[in-house]
Amino acid sequence: MRPMTPETPHPHAVEVVSTSPDRPMAERIRVLETTRPALAPTQVRIGMLAMNILPADLLQMNGQYGHQPELPYVPGHEGVAVVLETGSEVADLQPGERVLPIGVFGVWSDELVVQRRSLVPVPSDANVLQQAMLAANPATAWVLLQHQVTLQPDQWVIQNAANSAVGQCTRQLAAHLGIPLINVVRRPEAVASDEGGHWLVHDGQDPDSLQHSVHQITQGEPVVLGLDAIGGKASQALAASLSPQGRLVLYGLLSGEPCSISAHDLIFRNINVQGFWLANWFSHPDNRQKAKTVYPALMALAAQNVLRMSVEKVYELSDVLEAIAHSAQAGRQGKVLLKGAHFQSQQA
Ligand SMILES: NC(=O)c1ccc[n+]([C@@H]2O[C@H](COP(=O)([O-])OP(=O)(O)OC[C@H]3O[C@@H](n4cnc5c(N)ncnc54)[C@H](OP(=O)(O)O)[C@@H]3O)[C@@H](O)[C@H]2O)c1
Repeated sequence: MRPMTPETPHPHAVEVVSTSPDRPMAERIRVLETTRPALAPTQVRIGMLAMNILPADLLQMNGQYGHQPELPYVPGHEGVAVVLETGSEVADLQPGERVLPIGVFGVWSDELVVQRRSLVPVPSDANVLQQAMLAANPATAWVLLQHQVTLQPDQWVIQNAANSAVGQCTRQLAAHLGIPLINVVRRPEAVASDEGGHWLVHDGQDPDSLQHSVHQITQGEPVVLGLDAIGGKASQALAASLSPQGRLVLYGLLSGEPCSISAHDLIFRNINVQGFWLANWFSHPDNRQKAKTVYPALMALAAQNVLRMSVEKVYELSDVLEAIAHSAQAGRQGKVLLKGAHFQSQQA
């Protein structure tokens, strides 16, 4: 085995011990010292630099996600790391290289051991925080825009929660790809005034008024794809703003409400509604070839500054409770992230 880069004397991890929403978060999670298991030949020990806090992490902590691990578990789906040590059969990664763990769960930890095949090398001179946000939301935006419908020139896309991280990536990718996009946000301060594009402030409650505002922007050109992060009545409003045969893709459940769609839209206007989960898309055999192109494309776009996500605040791992409370607040200006023990050594 090849040696570690300077190691953390006492690596720590966050642990979830209960997902009962009736108990205060302070009783449901803890930060504890972890052990350092030996490496198998194909494994790599990584030191986390920065980790993102996703709505999926919060849903899971409340027992409401598509995958619920057994308790206790270490949470966290997304982050960036540095290689500390490689197993005897890992020849193509060196200690000190920066990597994205893809499809790895439990990254809210100073260190973890993963299979080599789960790591994608990334440049060591790029911004650590941007890299920590690259795996989930930009990939979601990419697949939603590129692989749900085949868009013809002058066909429009509309999205709600357009100031979320997924929404921000969707805006940047749509601008890059020349896709006309309408961005719906629920409060005027969320409109990115320094950006062009079409913005609507709408609370999602009145389908007719959204439909009217959309029509004024598109002047009757077809709106063929609606990207819905909210659910509830907001789904109905987005569906109503689509053209006949349009597709509504529900990819988030931010409202926590059942998705409501008018029967009129489903029956007479043939609006097609489908759910989307990135994990399912990546694991579907039909998407194997397309899936291989996603991260190389995103990394190239991040290097060209096409993709850039806003950050609200970065917390120490030991302050995870405060970080979780902050990330659950409405009206943030960007993502809340956690620092791993190796953050200081690698910040660019
Ligand atoms: N299906 C998938 O594979 C997949 C993958 C990635 C993400 N997602 C989902 O995508 C969504 C966005 O994730 P993110 O990380 O980009 O979010 P984020 O950056 O944390 O932003 C949260 C957004 O949600 C809005 N919001 C929160 N509660 C809302 C409500 N009740 N009604 C309307 N808007 C609400 C916020 O608006 P304000 O700024 O006004 O508070 C903000 O725009 C989440 O639901 C997430 O689970 C799904």
